[in-house]
Amino acid sequence: MKKEENKPAGKKGFSRRNFLRGTGLTAAGMVVGTKGFAGEFAPAAAPVYGPDEVPVTLSVNDGSYQTLARPDEVLVDTLRERLDLTGTKLVCGRGACSACTVMVDDKPVCSCLTLTMEVQDKKITTIEGVADGDELHPIQQAFIDEDASMCGFCTPGMIMSCKSLLDRNSNPSLDEVKKAVRGNLCRCGTYPHVFKATLKAAERMG
Ligand code: FES
Ligand code: FES
Repeated sequence: MKKEENKPAGKKGFSRRNFLRGTGLTAAGMVVGTKGFAGEFAPAAAPVYGPDEVPVTLSVNDGSYQTLARPDEVLVDTLRERLDLTGTKLVCGRGACSACTVMVDDKPVCSCLTLTMEVQDKKITTIEGVADGDELHPIQQAFIDEDASMCGFCTPGMIMSCKSLLDRNSNPSLDEVKKAVRGNLCRCGTYPHVFKATLKAAERMG
């Protein structure tokens, strides 16, 4: 009797041989698929960086910075470790908390998920670029007035999300404020204060 017929009950049709056969087919399918893709829909050649650090130029808060970055380096690391802009916080490092929010071309993004290489020709704004010299932005002042910060770890990212909302909507509703910060996690539970602060800033700016 062949070894393969001696299967345990309940594993109908499954054997190591079938499993290996299946994975072999899958691998073969991938090769065929890749060939087909490359032949018919080949994208334009992307720039190749690395594997060592390469020079990069970044436009941050109206300044131009020249530094080095690894090809796989994320923006939060470049900002904090190379440019000494430590206002942007790194908390989860995986896009789950938005503590690392900065603006790229005026849109809020998680800098822990953004490759530095990809934002070289873009306008980057961090929390350090929100105030006008010594004068706080109304959203920063409102956070102070409404006690919207406790430990402060989420605060820079929260402010960036709120500012981004105010930049595109000068008179947001409470629901719109809630929606704007829905990705920003605050373990200290400052949400009601953040909502009030954003509405207050909108009032002052209006
Ligand atoms: S640190 Fe980037 S999303 Fe949490
Ligand atoms: S103020 Fe502490 S996490 Fe938000």
